[in-house]
Amino acid sequence: MKAPSLRLDRLLANMGYGSRREIQLLGRQGRVTLDGAPVSDVEARVTVTPDLAARMVVDGEALDPPPGMVLLLHKPLGVTCSHKEAGPLVYGLFPPRWRRREPGLSTVGRLDKETSGLLLLTDDGALLHRIISPKSHVAKRYRVTLDRPLRGDEAETFAAGTLMLDGEDKPLLPAEMRALSPMAAEITLREGRYHQVRRMFAAVGNHVVALHRDRMGGLDLPESLAPGAYSVLDEDGIATIFAASAK
Ligand code: URA
Repeated sequence: MKAPSLRLDRLLANMGYGSRREIQLLGRQGRVTLDGAPVSDVEARVTVTPDLAARMVVDGEALDPPPGMVLLLHKPLGVTCSHKEAGPLVYGLFPPRWRRREPGLSTVGRLDKETSGLLLLTDDGALLHRIISPKSHVAKRYRVTLDRPLRGDEAETFAAGTLMLDGEDKPLLPAEMRALSPMAAEITLREGRYHQVRRMFAAVGNHVVALHRDRMGGLDLPESLAPGAYSVLDEDGIATIFAASAK
């Protein structure tokens, strides 16, 4: 797809750097540079490619990822995947100006407040829908810590494709579970129902005490990424979400 081109003042305004007037001032004062040279004419068009973040500097700092960004966040415990609920929100982990971005950033699906791990966010609505579409078969893998020892029949129950959760009228798709220890398991889902993992273990008489997602499609949560930290995915990273080798 051809990269869009946009007037610089509009691009920066859409990225939350200020009003068009404020951006004009930034330009006049030489506080915006492209490839090392000041850009005084902020009405000039720029091609919006991901490498712009490495080439443009605003007020001494590298430009934020331009529109079309996909972030891999290590979601910490205790933050909510919502724009408006009370308490700490995932969006509070990013620079405040990102709240003024248009298009805005959204989480790709959700993790519960008390679930940690791999969470994708993007401002690309079409990509978001592609990732969550059942047609894309993007599997999600979780590490589960339990309150009670496994009985031994859970993997078979989850794999059957017949398990019905309380209050639902459609059975769950088959899911793969592997015991890691008597009270810990790894589970891979190909759908995402409300509190699904917690409700699956409740259905087999157990209780989830800790839940962590470590994989989506072919993408692993890097061990080097601390809770609350994030990285920007490049094209290869995005392709890995859909990688056929996804388990
Ligand atoms: N299943 C849950 O119960 N919670 C999550 O956050 C994700 C999957």
